[in-house]
Amino acid sequence: MHYFSYKGDDLHAEDVRFEELGREYGTPLYVYSKRTLLRHMRAYKKAFGGGGGIVSFALKANSNGAILRLLASEGAGADVVSGGELFRALKAGIPAGKTVYAGVGKTADEISYALKKNILMFNVESDEELEKINRVAGLAGRRAPVALRVNPDIDPMTHPYISTGLEKNKFGLPIKDALEFYVRALKMKNIEIIGVHEHIGSQLTELAPFREALEKVLTLIDRLRDSGIKLKYLDLGGGLGIRYDGEKPPGPGTLAKNLLPLLKDRGLTVIVEPGRSIAGNAGVLLTRCLYTKKTARKRFAIVDAGMNDLIRPALYGSYHEIIPVRRNRRARMKMDVVGPICESGDFLAADRFMPGVKAGELLCVLGAGAYGFSMSSNYNSRPHPAEVMVDGGRHWLIRKRGTYRDLIRSELVGSEL
Ligand code: LLP
Repeated sequence: MHYFSYKGDDLHAEDVRFEELGREYGTPLYVYSKRTLLRHMRAYKKAFGGGGGIVSFALKANSNGAILRLLASEGAGADVVSGGELFRALKAGIPAGKTVYAGVGKTADEISYALKKNILMFNVESDEELEKINRVAGLAGRRAPVALRVNPDIDPMTHPYISTGLEKNKFGLPIKDALEFYVRALKMKNIEIIGVHEHIGSQLTELAPFREALEKVLTLIDRLRDSGIKLKYLDLGGGLGIRYDGEKPPGPGTLAKNLLPLLKDRGLTVIVEPGRSIAGNAGVLLTRCLYTKKTARKRFAIVDAGMNDLIRPALYGSYHEIIPVRRNRRARMKMDVVGPICESGDFLAADRFMPGVKAGELLCVLGAGAYGFSMSSNYNSRPHPAEVMVDGGRHWLIRKRGTYRDLIRSELVGSEL
């Protein structure tokens, strides 16, 4: 659910016309709805926040400080995968004590930074990583709180690039060897084993894979308990899908009702790491059509947002609905909506049936709040787009538009010649 809809013939973000946003801030422009973000965060809190449960927002989906600060004010924790994300989370006021740190390639510097900041736990993805954390913690005279990320070998039935819980994926430790890993970890002087972590993929629209994965993890937890290893935290990961193209994914409430009863009275504190289902439909990308063009085979709408601003269609062939900011009754036709980047893969929509588009017109790319700006780049030396927050009838910048100066800011051009 979100707050982007037509009132009369004008598309609005909450109570603000997109026309007005386009005029005031220019395009391309990411626009977020505060009410939608709050609604999603509150739904998660209601579903999983009982009994000390922690909702740790996955920063990779969207790491704008204003959004993080808003979620922090609602009690969010953070799921981070780099020192940079941890830095952002802390800057935005997310408590370290609600922050978990996953990722297969943590460096010694990142580990020592996270230790210093007292994060809740490291979600460890390999044997060698565990040894490194033990070593780094030892040097710091600390014990590192750790959960092992297990790979339950479940097919999440989603896009192969965003499946993570299959045996062939690089993530986590094979669940069949997990007991062994735990026993080894217990013997490490500077490791404190406190939990287990799983995350099987993203944009999941069915409950079954979540359940199956959890059942496998619970079997492991029981085996661990029988061997005298008691865990405090169960981190269920993220992955709940959203509606891009008519999907009907369950909401956080349904997910919780299906999963939490399985835990019975094992005394575990639950952590969830949603990203997309909080931010995805809370943001859109506003873009202006620059030109239209017709060839013998195709019709193109060339817009001012490219794969550098939103890479999902180019990278995964993802579907994002694109609608006009001013509703019209033009005939529907098949077209490609493409960006200005010099790559044939630079499209926001391919062979899409939609109402004819005219140069100068504003279009909204929906479902762009997650993995939109956070995956953007300066490719073709295009400055980053601006970002705006809307709340009722108010709106304000939460990131200035990038400039040409920004493009070269970090370059060191000396007297090489
Ligand atoms: N926790 C872990 C350990 C993760 O790897 C991820 C996402 C999440 C939580 C958050 O998952 P979410 O709730 O957002 O599904 N760039 C891709 C998505 C990559 C997801 C990577 N991991 C896309 O644009 O679809």
